[in-house]
Amino acid sequence: MFVHPSSHVFKPFKYKTLEDLRNELKRLSIPLPINANTENLREAIQSKHINIPNRLSIQPMEGFDAKLNGSPSELTYRRYTRYAKGGAGLIWFEATAISEDCRSNDHQLILTEENVNNFKELTSLTRTQANQTLESLGFKNRCRLILQLNHSGRYSKRNGKKNPIRAYHNDELDNAISVKREDGIIISDEELKEIRDIWVNKAILAKDAGFDGVDIKACHGYLISELLSAHNRKNSEYGGSSLENRSKLLIEIITKLQNKFRKDSGFKVTSRIGAYDGIPYPNGFGVKSIANQTFPASVDLEEPIELINKLYELDVKLLNITAGNPHYKGYITRPYDIPVKGGRLPKEHPLFSAYRIIYLTSVIKSLISQDMIIVGSGYTYFRQFAGNLASGLIQRGMVDICGFGRMSFANPEFAKQIFQGKTIDKAKACISCSKCSQFMREGKSTGCAVRDPEYINRE
Ligand SMILES: Cc1cc2nc3c(=O)[nH]c(=O)nc-3n(C[C@H](O)[C@H](O)[C@H](O)COP(=O)(O)O)c2cc1C
Repeated sequence: MFVHPSSHVFKPFKYKTLEDLRNELKRLSIPLPINANTENLREAIQSKHINIPNRLSIQPMEGFDAKLNGSPSELTYRRYTRYAKGGAGLIWFEATAISEDCRSNDHQLILTEENVNNFKELTSLTRTQANQTLESLGFKNRCRLILQLNHSGRYSKRNGKKNPIRAYHNDELDNAISVKREDGIIISDEELKEIRDIWVNKAILAKDAGFDGVDIKACHGYLISELLSAHNRKNSEYGGSSLENRSKLLIEIITKLQNKFRKDSGFKVTSRIGAYDGIPYPNGFGVKSIANQTFPASVDLEEPIELINKLYELDVKLLNITAGNPHYKGYITRPYDIPVKGGRLPKEHPLFSAYRIIYLTSVIKSLISQDMIIVGSGYTYFRQFAGNLASGLIQRGMVDICGFGRMSFANPEFAKQIFQGKTIDKAKACISCSKCSQFMREGKSTGCAVRDPEYINRE
């Protein structure tokens, strides 16, 4: 369905005008729509399930600046205040651990009974500020706040030390983060059931904390995402050849939550789904079941679409789509010009990498029920032209909302700039230098070293 063009070689971002970008896309035969006028990004989503004031979102971005007990710190408040001043209608809060032992960093947020009031304060301040900003920009609808809840799975750490909690063995993924088989465990079905119940309780707590909805994270190689590709998990209710088994943890959590919330006043249950990870069969998801493929494996969206249809039946009407395992080969998730230290440049053009994730999302959008609202990912690479791309995609119905990750660290006011000035400020845009990912790998707080040195050079 999606052929890898071996003729595309890597070329960094050098486009000065929309025309330059259009010409390069044309040269590469990449049919991405780029609009000069971005007015349509102001349109609200008004369905009977959810209202969102405009078409731009902050994507979840772990800041790793929480207190050791998992509560938001001053730096966390700073980040969310910056987002709230930015004008995006949807703020998707970063991966927050469901418990202490499944964090990927000692400073990751954790939602607990003890600190729910701290989260309440964070949502309240974010909401007040975001609504003020939206009002000042002429929007009628109120902002929406979603919390992403996660179990870091094979990327879990304990006391700063790698402690992989795996769905199955994959030596290549182990090598990528320098761990050995004996460094961690394969999680048992019994433990998965305990995790399921903790996840449900934490999601219920997210409502008490003032969020409008909760994301049961199923992407980027973390626990639920790894289960989706667990063909090699033997003798387990949560693995093997059937998608029903491999998606069982996600479906069980969501079913329990919908039974609790369905009649409730609008609390949304959603998921960020990794629809394709590029990892060859049998260890990949959204890939063709052909043996001996090389990375990135051929796309096959049959299972992701089957899963999404199942979620739709469970009354999930908002989904965030992403791709790749950023701990393995990051360019599928976040196309870049400069890799993390020791990393490699991909053997493909970054505009092609960006097109892959955008195209996959649009195929999914076209094959599922039209009232499922889809948030797409991976637009930051387009820098000052990202709003022009978002506008083109939304006009063609290829996605409903465009979510920004690295751009939100670098330039949290990107949405305001689009709404006011029609284009993102070039001097503030993310330059895809991978420093934020580098900080993540080093176990430090993340943030933008280039555009927000105040955050990086604090103390
Ligand atoms: C430092 C860093 C932290 C991230 N944290 C999260 C996270 O908490 N949850 C998540 O689903 N994705 C996370 N991502 C992925 C982003 O949400 C996003 O999918 C990716 O950066 C591509 O989008 P972009 O091109 O707009 O940056 C993170 C990415 C980076 C670089």
